[in-house]
Amino acid sequence: MADPKQVPNIKLNNGKSIPVVGLGTWQSPPDGSLYKAVRAAIDAGYRHIDCAYAYENEVEVGKAINDAIADGKVKREDLYIVSKLWLTFFRRDRVEVCVKKMLANLNTPYLDLCLMHWPMSFGDNTNDKDLVPTGANGKVIEGDIDYLEAWQGLEDAVKAGLVKSIGISNFNSIQIERLLGAATIKPVTNQVEIHPYLAQTKLKKFCEDRAITLTAYSPLGNPGSAANTAADKDRLLKEPVVLRLAQKYNKNVGQVLLKFQAQRGIIVIPKSVSADRIRSNIQIFDFELTPQEIQELESLDRNYRSCQFDVFGIPQLTRYPFKDNIPF
Ligand SMILES: NC(=O)c1ccc[n+]([C@@H]2O[C@H](COP(=O)([O-])OP(=O)(O)OC[C@H]3O[C@@H](n4cnc5c(N)ncnc54)[C@H](OP(=O)(O)O)[C@@H]3O)[C@@H](O)[C@H]2O)c1
Repeated sequence: MADPKQVPNIKLNNGKSIPVVGLGTWQSPPDGSLYKAVRAAIDAGYRHIDCAYAYENEVEVGKAINDAIADGKVKREDLYIVSKLWLTFFRRDRVEVCVKKMLANLNTPYLDLCLMHWPMSFGDNTNDKDLVPTGANGKVIEGDIDYLEAWQGLEDAVKAGLVKSIGISNFNSIQIERLLGAATIKPVTNQVEIHPYLAQTKLKKFCEDRAITLTAYSPLGNPGSAANTAADKDRLLKEPVVLRLAQKYNKNVGQVLLKFQAQRGIIVIPKSVSADRIRSNIQIFDFELTPQEIQELESLDRNYRSCQFDVFGIPQLTRYPFKDNIPF
């Protein structure tokens, strides 16, 4: 197990700190496997858990963290719990409704960090039933609430003591700039897909210049995911450069991919429900890649995006972040 004290923290722009490695929970089934995964992660030294309202599995995360607390393994203040505002709760007064649902699901008094999951809103914002409200044509109903309004709601949640820090996810640089022009509380992080095939070097520089950290989701390229429809979805795990480095450092491919981000100052949240992988994914603090190796990994960039959210016509929405000529 990794000693949690050995897992570096990254300082955020509000003075708080976040552990550089966290456990991802998207698509972790709430059938007992996620409970075991979170318990295994805490035992392995993880203190940061990445959740979301939309993952529909937070109750199981909550059970695991509260049992770990009851067993004396950790205290709540040792943990860094992240969740994400869903897109049907963008109206300012409805943000708190979503935050309170997440707190109830996780059975915790506060979130360490609440992210806006995407910069686009869905539906009429009164329907708590459907995650993706669709019309008769089967396409998502576009919401008319600006992410700037949702951000005000998140700022309210900080002031109400429900969340300690707020951030964004899947925002492009144009959207970040616009948000910074209106925000009274700056986002601490932007959580986006990052791995060698989508190295995000430009966005990294852009965010660094504005004291916003990056958090890498799908750091292993999201292999095995039903949502990843790319034909070569496990190619990153077979990438010769990564294999060579794994051999050189006597590490596995996952560890090289995760260390790559941690060394770039990027927070990384690999998902696993396998206790062995959970343990191995945090054992990355006993080797160092050279600056040349970091550059070599960055140069593998091919704009490969495993997580396009390409369902229900979502990429056609006005504020879908990954297209050319985004209005804002
Ligand atoms: N903000 C967003 O919009 C957004 C989008 C996507 C993801 N996320 C967050 O980021 C987390 C991580 O991203 P992700 O789940 O998309 O993908 P990922 O962490 O890149 O990959 C997870 C997949 O890799 C497998 N795996 C885990 N460790 C491995 C290892 N060492 N070697 C080989 N395979 C390994 C897992 O299987 P097993 O479980 O069977 O081990 C799972 O199938 C998510 O869980 C979620 O918390 C956020």
